Amino acid sequence: MSHAEPGPAGEPGVAFATPIPGQDNGSAPDLPPPASSGRSSRRRFLAGAALTAGGAAIGAAVGFGVGTRRDDQPNAVPLTLADLEVSREQATVPFYGANQAGVTTRQQDRLMFAAFDLITDDVVKVQHLLGTWAAMAAQFTAGNPVRTGAVRPEQAPPDTGEAQDLGAYSLTLTVGFGASMFDERFGLADRMPAALQPLGTIPGDAVLRPEISDGDLCVQACADDPQVVFHAIRNFARAASGVAVMRWSQLGFGRASATGAGQTTPRNLFGFKDGTNNIHADATEDTDRWVWVDDSADQPWMVGGTYLVARKIRMEIQSWDADSLGDQERIFGRLKDSGAPLTGGDEFTPVDFAATAPDGQPVIDPNSHIRLASPEENGGIRILRRGYNYTDGQDSRTGKLDAGLFFLAFQRDPHTQFKVLQTRLGRSDAMNEYVAHIGSAVFACPPGVSAAGDWFGKALFIS
Ligand code: HEM
Repeated sequence: MSHAEPGPAGEPGVAFATPIPGQDNGSAPDLPPPASSGRSSRRRFLAGAALTAGGAAIGAAVGFGVGTRRDDQPNAVPLTLADLEVSREQATVPFYGANQAGVTTRQQDRLMFAAFDLITDDVVKVQHLLGTWAAMAAQFTAGNPVRTGAVRPEQAPPDTGEAQDLGAYSLTLTVGFGASMFDERFGLADRMPAALQPLGTIPGDAVLRPEISDGDLCVQACADDPQVVFHAIRNFARAASGVAVMRWSQLGFGRASATGAGQTTPRNLFGFKDGTNNIHADATEDTDRWVWVDDSADQPWMVGGTYLVARKIRMEIQSWDADSLGDQERIFGRLKDSGAPLTGGDEFTPVDFAATAPDGQPVIDPNSHIRLASPEENGGIRILRRGYNYTDGQDSRTGKLDAGLFFLAFQRDPHTQFKVLQTRLGRSDAMNEYVAHIGSAVFACPPGVSAAGDWFGKALFIS
């Protein structure tokens, strides 16, 4: 099939033919080169320190609980708390690469997630938007604003400004395409991957709300600062004016998973450690097997990509708080304090699903969450969880806290991974008394943007 060629200005992401709304100069956003070029940057630099995430001593300390001094540098000056805060602020995650960041990269503390609906049927405008977003993402993830050049007073500022004095805080921006983008509007129907077909009804889905489900496009913004993620989504939405509108969005205030073997396991709003038995980024056999799409895919444009399942799960935390500790631990199959399985050991001790109590009953309840979701009981299936705790304030009808888990999971195929697990959980999970899935969406996240001039999903449109 022949797909639309890039617009008159050339490839999206290179020419920036989509103007930033509010600018009256009629031209594209004037995006500065990445900070490494030596031109102006939003970031304040810490002299002499290597600050990319995964970089040298200070960068490595960020988020991994490393103390003050490396053993192989006994004479190094101890880091102060101020040093650590600056290093956290200045840390960056590379934007360009074979895979999109924000999947197997270290999970940050804060999230803003947004789903968009396209309001055009012009595929070239969609391409330009994806090119503009890629160019903006390259800047934001390096700690730069939309533009740093001079602005005439009669012009709207190109950047909204609220992140001006902040660093990148390890910002990642991950973009995905919903099944609805492959309808008749853009001539993409024959490029729809089988894995993106709707999941159908899963037990427990009866209370899903359409207004906080689905969408043509999604953007997951994660960083270690809430204003940085908000700024990114706000400016993406601004750049989308006339092409896409935000359908729904979600803020996450704390991570509820761990994606690195060295990352401490956080707690969800039920107070349990969450992310213990997750796929970790350093387990590349697992990420290759369960997360990244390989060249056996039905759609070559998805090779190096992954599928994102988002579920907004409301948690009845007030009822949960009245439940006994023993029952809470039975529901999960783990101890609340240490996260260790009820069959003994510490947090990372493998669970003994065959163990029985003196009365002959299984120690790990047949309907416990970890048994029903475990690879051992599901033919080895795994997913990479990367969710966030959320609160939307209080329910105005009851005064109760309106809170839960914004569940995000990455995988090669939601039908053979998420759906299989959630079908079992939705039927029998002992936790169901305390949770309700109220939002749901699946997105195909294309491979990474390789370099300036490439853009999100380019091979979907042009190949
Ligand atoms: C509010 C909803 C949920 C809460 C509070 C929750 C909490 C937890 C906790 C505390 C654990 C044990 C620690 C760990 O290994 O991470 C866990 C494990 C797990 N959960 Fe969830 N979870 C929720 C929803 C889901 C959903 C929707 C799925 C997928 C359909 C899922 C899949 C898993 C998997 C695969 C494991 C690891 C099981 C193992 O191998 O031991 N969870 N979850």
